[in-house]
Amino acid sequence: MDQYCVYGNPIEQSRSPFIHQMFAQDTDQPISYTREYVELGEFAKTVNHFIANGGKGANVTVPFKEEAMALCHQLSNRAKLAGAVNTLSFIDGQIIGDNTDGIGLVADLLRNNVPISDSKILLLGAGGAAKGVILPLLEQAPDSITIANRTVSKAKQLCVQFNNNILSYCSFESLGEQSFDLIINATSASLSGSIPPISAKAISKDTICYDMVYGAELTPFLCWAKQNGAKQVFDGLGMLVAQAAESFFIWRGVKPEVTEVLAAVRASIHLEVSDT
Ligand code: ATR
Repeated sequence: MDQYCVYGNPIEQSRSPFIHQMFAQDTDQPISYTREYVELGEFAKTVNHFIANGGKGANVTVPFKEEAMALCHQLSNRAKLAGAVNTLSFIDGQIIGDNTDGIGLVADLLRNNVPISDSKILLLGAGGAAKGVILPLLEQAPDSITIANRTVSKAKQLCVQFNNNILSYCSFESLGEQSFDLIINATSASLSGSIPPISAKAISKDTICYDMVYGAELTPFLCWAKQNGAKQVFDGLGMLVAQAAESFFIWRGVKPEVTEVLAAVRASIHLEVSDT
């Protein structure tokens, strides 16, 4: 049976084994998929050990995505631009790196019939999560992408790096009165119970809001978006399952169905919360 795993620190919270085992069942692919805790400084050693024992591929999560990139003999363009790798394939002695996070977001938006092409997009945040979604969003030909961040210089840096005339940057405060078709929260603010301080004017009755963070409850950003009249809100669980489906496709050549697996993961999160 071909072996896969996800590396992280911490890792016990990872839903990837659950998701990939469901994909494997649904597509009749005989694989095993485990989660592996890796000590800081032990990443390269751990990966090489897995390869020596016949491992076929791995997902990589915080804090090893940059280290994973450095290990690769070959990188996809989207991994290079994201500056991070979340999917490793081990083929004929080569380590091949890809990044499916951004395409996972786009797939989740499209699955939910959220228009991207010709849309006016506000991207909140300029860290790793934001950087990883810019290329896949640009590929959908939006009208514009405005990157707003607490540290404005980081938003500016992304505009310089991606060098596309539909990209612009600003601070949260200088967004002014304009509204957007789609607002994507790529900050980690929801994790600490806060929201980026943007004007509620950013939301019109047609605005769709997406938070890359997810949880059993609606995130603080999505609560705020609903209170301020957003047309629809989505959390990042769909992105998580969709990026996993893209990794599975890279490894197995089969694209699993996402909708039922997403419902099962959602149910398992609610079950855990009601158990505690
Ligand atoms: P990730 O890989 O999750 O993107 P990161 O690279 O550390 O993590 O980036 C975190 C992002 O969330 C950054 O854009 C950060 O803003 P700064 O660049 O100014 O640090 C943003 N962020 C984190 N906490 C925030 C908060 N409470 N309010 C607004 N933005 C926040």
